[in-house]
Amino acid sequence: MPLLTFASPKGGVGKTTLAANVASELSRAGCRVMALDLDPQNALRLHFGLPLRERAGFTHILPQRPDWRSCVRETPAGIPLLAYGAAGMHETIALDAAVTADPDLLLQPLRDILATPEIWLVADTAPGPSPLLEALLRCTDLLVTVLLTDAASVSLIPSLERGGMLADEWAAQAGVPSRFVLNQFDPRTRLGGVILDAARQHLGDRLLGVVYRDEHVAESIAAQKLLADYASASKATHDIAAIARGVLALMRSAGQDGPETEAARA
Ligand SMILES: Nc1ncnc2c1ncn2[C@@H]1O[C@H](COP(=O)(O)OP(=O)(O)OP(=O)(O)O)[C@@H](O)[C@H]1O
Ligand SMILES: [Mg+2]
Repeated sequence: MPLLTFASPKGGVGKTTLAANVASELSRAGCRVMALDLDPQNALRLHFGLPLRERAGFTHILPQRPDWRSCVRETPAGIPLLAYGAAGMHETIALDAAVTADPDLLLQPLRDILATPEIWLVADTAPGPSPLLEALLRCTDLLVTVLLTDAASVSLIPSLERGGMLADEWAAQAGVPSRFVLNQFDPRTRLGGVILDAARQHLGDRLLGVVYRDEHVAESIAAQKLLADYASASKATHDIAAIARGVLALMRSAGQDGPETEAARA
């Protein structure tokens, strides 16, 4: 079943927030979703109500070839999680080197998970390029690159037009479908409008969605809750639900079966 990967060239743009909440919306639409955290920050778990003090994980022990089934953690939010796990700097560097030398350390369990009927895997990644992301892209069905609605993103847009950037470029080479989300859009600022126009013009239908800047997002993370559970009527909740519907439509057109729900048909 499908693997959906969230990535970005820049850090702090909303990858983890979107990965967690799109996973939640897909689950609400009837998909059997599992989340995978490939970022040593371990932040994905916070959205699912799992405290950081829990050290167990999956990604950081990949060189030990763990059975992924025994590493899946049920979470208070109801989305099963394969966490990164607590790892120091040396362990993280050693893991990157191990996966560079042998990408199958990640690819083998991924293929096994994706062969499981019905599971939709949603992966969160560390910012920028990494050996884990490079391996992940080989199994990815849809890459979602998150861009912030800020001045630095404006400067990146021309490079998008020239053929991509980082993960998006690799995805193009590997023939992986790739889409973009503009996050933290603020319609009250002039720059926000300029960036949105530029993104629409340059990305066309590769712009999967726009998420408004919304204080409920930060509050939901502080409350260790999914956004839809914390503020179901918020603007960002609606924006993210629309992105999940877009994902379902794309996966369906690619031949991946989704649940027959109203959300999927919309
Ligand atoms: N739409 C939004 N509106 C308001 N705040 C947001 C929105 N999206 C994300 N944020 C805030 O932006 C910050 C960064 O979000 P997040 O941790 O998801 O980014 P990230 O890309 O995963 O970061 P990193 O690169 O460090 O992994 C968080 O404090 C989050 O609450
Ligand atoms: Mg993150």
